[in-house]
Amino acid sequence: MSQRAVARLAKRLDEAEEANESMEIGEEMRHLTLQVISEALMSLTAEEADGTFAKVYMPIVVEGHMRTWNPLRRFCPLLPGWWAHIKNQRILNDYITGIIRARWEIIRKERDQAAGATNGVADGNGSGGTADGKDSYPHLGRKRDILDKVLDSLEPGEWGSAAVLQIRDEMKTFVLAGHETSASMLNWSLFELMGSKDLMAKVVAESEQVFGHAVPLTAPLPSAEKLRGLQFTEACLRESLRKYSLVPLVVRRCVEDTTICEEGGTEHFIPKGCSVHLLIKGVHERPDIWPEPMRYNPDRFMETPVAPYTFLPFIDGPRNCLGQHLSLLESKVVLSLLVNRYEFSLVNSNAGEPNAWMIPTIPKYGTHITTKRRSGR
Ligand code: HEM
Repeated sequence: MSQRAVARLAKRLDEAEEANESMEIGEEMRHLTLQVISEALMSLTAEEADGTFAKVYMPIVVEGHMRTWNPLRRFCPLLPGWWAHIKNQRILNDYITGIIRARWEIIRKERDQAAGATNGVADGNGSGGTADGKDSYPHLGRKRDILDKVLDSLEPGEWGSAAVLQIRDEMKTFVLAGHETSASMLNWSLFELMGSKDLMAKVVAESEQVFGHAVPLTAPLPSAEKLRGLQFTEACLRESLRKYSLVPLVVRRCVEDTTICEEGGTEHFIPKGCSVHLLIKGVHERPDIWPEPMRYNPDRFMETPVAPYTFLPFIDGPRNCLGQHLSLLESKVVLSLLVNRYEFSLVNSNAGEPNAWMIPTIPKYGTHITTKRRSGR
């Protein structure tokens, strides 16, 4: 999926190079990661991800960000875009609900067929999952995505409007959590690599070792074992997660009276019901843990293992990020394939300035780049 998405982006980069134009790579990365997550979740095509999905989803996200800072926007129908927001939400909800219902029909029929094949009984209501977690109906040969797995886990009789609503909202959470963050990590990593010839050379060398020279974007990817060789590339991604703390803080509600104790022994009482803001960014910028915290130094992640609770881009413990492994795997393949094929140059000198109002942390003025195909690629 990542490779196909890179191939689509490469086409656009080639066209821009030919036309001698620059591109804002952040927006391109957003489309790329949206395509990947939409395919992984619901088998949407790139056109579907870029079409209905991106067209209504992205404006909803932008309005959501504005409402975080100005919650009163929700109550102001006279604001431009207020009605469009409601309309977009309705279109998105109907769109995802339609996909879920259509898929359930397919699964129901598959279950009927499978039940008919095994014992001649077709109730269409049994659970599709197996005890060992494997796909229940491999003989049907259909590619299965995350939505299939979710629907397979429904117990008999659980299907209905409430289930559809819950699955719809979970799919929306996955799409939101799963594309903006990865896009931002890729964006910052590329920005830092463009600023350091040495680091870029190391990432390119690693890419050539794993993928070879002039890798065609349609060739089969190397084995998972070989992809593990992209260690320095992964360290660069991790260092971007640390330096830019894409999700700078998370909030938790204290479910019982709690006392926490600082290293020096000072105690703090937190009453049940309090909201606790956990400042991830604060941890990532502590000089006693991360010397010279504002220096981009991927070697931090190549040396000693990272101490527990000092690197928290995905949070640790219950409710941590479900997509962290997917995200790092997807992103290291994307970054490595891109630098293998292109030399990147930064156009705007203000690209390093983060937008203080957005989560995930993104560049305030975008990252405008030009590319040059590496010779022979
Ligand atoms: C660089 C990439 C990513 C970063 C930095 C990131 C970060 C986080 C963080 C900090 C949380 C906890 C939020 C909170 O509790 O307030 C979270 C939750 C979550 N993430 Fe990610 N994430 C990334 C990629 C992804 C991807 C690719 C997916 C989906 C495939 C994903 C799915 C989720 C989901 C579903 C949750 C909610 C988990 C729950 O509440 O139980 N994330 N993520």
